[in-house]
Amino acid sequence: MTTTISPLIAGNWKMNGTRASLDELSVLASMLTTGEAPRAIVVVCPPATIVAAAARQGATAGIQIGGQDCHTEGSGAHTGDIAAGMLADAGAQYVIIGHSERRAEHGETNDQVRLKAVAAIAAGLKPIICVGETEAQRDSGQAESVVAGQLAGSVPDAAENHEVNIAYEPIWAIGTGRTPSNEEIAAMHACIRQALVDRFGDKGLSIRILYGGSLKPQNAREILAVENVNGGLVGGASLLAKDFYTIISAV
Ligand code: 13P
Repeated sequence: MTTTISPLIAGNWKMNGTRASLDELSVLASMLTTGEAPRAIVVVCPPATIVAAAARQGATAGIQIGGQDCHTEGSGAHTGDIAAGMLADAGAQYVIIGHSERRAEHGETNDQVRLKAVAAIAAGLKPIICVGETEAQRDSGQAESVVAGQLAGSVPDAAENHEVNIAYEPIWAIGTGRTPSNEEIAAMHACIRQALVDRFGDKGLSIRILYGGSLKPQNAREILAVENVNGGLVGGASLLAKDFYTIISAV
């Protein structure tokens, strides 16, 4: 059933990258255009300051661009924040919402994450909504209930008729070089799939569920082959074109 979902590989550059980093995007673009055509939709989410330049540069190679966060409101007195419409105006098609680093460092709640996703959809962006448990939550057997709660609270009803992507990123796997076993990934992705189907019916079968957390060239092939893994959200390994391309090619 899920094999009909077109896979997507997104790179989250986090707070890394200046205009000089666009050279790396050029390298990726030439790898994508000269090598075998990628089987995945390729998305790069650079810092907001270079979204517009990245969008211009990525276009020829079919690289789509995403933001890393957006505000719940369309405009107004919110110093330092970025509205979804601004990202769209700069050429973005996607936006990461509710990354665990934002939930932890900026205290983002499920309610805020859901409202951000609603704002993103209203601006024509495709949200990538992140969920994932801490190590303590996994150790105490709460991983699935925590993720189920995040899904229920963070995914808007609009997912029924707009493209929304889910990224399962266990917090303890982010930037640590550790990953869950393939069986643990399969079990969590099956739970997420079930929750989406329970809520959205058949539409829940077509919502992409990405895996993120220490996804690397070395483990991409086996993780991306796990049932209900419809692509990946890549942090560190997306900063080097060669590594990111290897992950894209593993689809
Ligand atoms: P790493 O791939 O560096 O573990 O980061 C994952 C992540 O947080 C992507 O959003």
